[in-house]
Amino acid sequence: MKLKLLTHSLLVAAPFVFSSFAANAVEKVTLKLAHNLDTSHVVHRALDKMADEIKELSDGKMRLRIYPGGQMGGPRETLELLQNGALDMTKASASEMEPFASYYSVFSLPYLFNDQDHFKKVIYGPIGKEMMQGTADKGFVGLAAYVAGTRSFYSKTPIHTPEDMKGMKVRVVATPTTVKLIELLGGAPAPIPFGEVYTALQQGVIDGAENNEPSYVQTRHVEVAKYYSEDQHTAVPDYLIVSTQAWNKLSDEAKAIINKAARDSELYEAQLWDEQVKKSRADALEAGAEFIQVDKGPFRQALTPLYDDFRADAAKASWLSRIEEAGQ
Ligand code: GCU
Repeated sequence: MKLKLLTHSLLVAAPFVFSSFAANAVEKVTLKLAHNLDTSHVVHRALDKMADEIKELSDGKMRLRIYPGGQMGGPRETLELLQNGALDMTKASASEMEPFASYYSVFSLPYLFNDQDHFKKVIYGPIGKEMMQGTADKGFVGLAAYVAGTRSFYSKTPIHTPEDMKGMKVRVVATPTTVKLIELLGGAPAPIPFGEVYTALQQGVIDGAENNEPSYVQTRHVEVAKYYSEDQHTAVPDYLIVSTQAWNKLSDEAKAIINKAARDSELYEAQLWDEQVKKSRADALEAGAEFIQVDKGPFRQALTPLYDDFRADAAKASWLSRIEEAGQ
C-alpha cells in the first residue's frame, strides 16, 4: 500500500517537479506506444502532440514512437505486450480495463453522468486519478484520460425503442456489464474486437453495434449500418496506459516531462472533441446515415437492473456513490 501511494504521489506531484529541472538532466529514451484508433481520431492527434511536446521539452532526447490503427493488435493484445515488457504504452477504453480492475465497469452504467462537466470532474479529478493508479499490481497504470462523448446504438434497421432491439445481434466490447446491457434490451450481445466489427456487420454476423459518432464514422461502420439512434446510453473514457516496468526505469525528470505532456494531451483532446463530433455527424450524413432521435426513458427504465447489480457489491457501490456525489 505504501509503495502504491508513493507512485501515486510521484505522478500527481509532477507539475511541481517539472519546473525544477533542466532538460539536460534527462536520459535518452524512445518509448513505444501502440493503439487501435485511426490517425484522424482526436485521441491519436492528442498523442501525436504529446510526442512533439516530449521531444521538445527534453531537447530531443526523449521520443515517443506511435503505432496507430491496431497494427500491434487491439487493447487486449497491447495490454499484454505492456505486461511482458515488449511495449511501453497503449490506449484502452474503460471497458477494456475492466478485466484488470472491476471498478472500471462503472462507466458501463447507463446515464450515469449529469453532463460533460460531471464526467470531466470524475475522470480528471481525484476519483479518476485513483482509478488510474489502481492497476499498478497488474503491470500498468493510467497516465491520461480522454473524453469520448456518448455511445449510442447503430444498426441496419432503425431502433426507436428497446422493442426494436428484440433478437438483434449487437456487438459489444466484451465485459459482463455490456453483455447484460444488451440482454436487458432484448438483444443478443456479440463480443467482437473493434477491428473486426466492419466485416461482421457487412457479412450479417451482427445487426448492429454501439459507439460514439467519431468511431462510427472513422471505422466506416456507417457504410454498413446506416441508422444511428441517439439513445446515448453510456460515456466511456479512453485512457493512455503506461507499463510500470517502463515507467519505473525513467528518471524523475523524464517522468515529469511525460506527466506534463500527458496532462496537456488531455486538455487538447477535450478541446478537439466537440468539433470532431460535429464533423463526424456531417460526414455520416454525407455517407447516407440517418440520425434517429429517441426517447431515452424506455432505455433508462429497461436498464435500471444494472444499477441494482452494481450496488449489491460493496466496493463497486462505493465507487458509484463517490461518482454520484461528484455530480451534486
Ligand atoms: C471507442 C473507443 C475505443 C474502443 C472502441 C470500441 O471508439 O475510443 O477505445 O476500442 O470504442 O468500441 O472497441
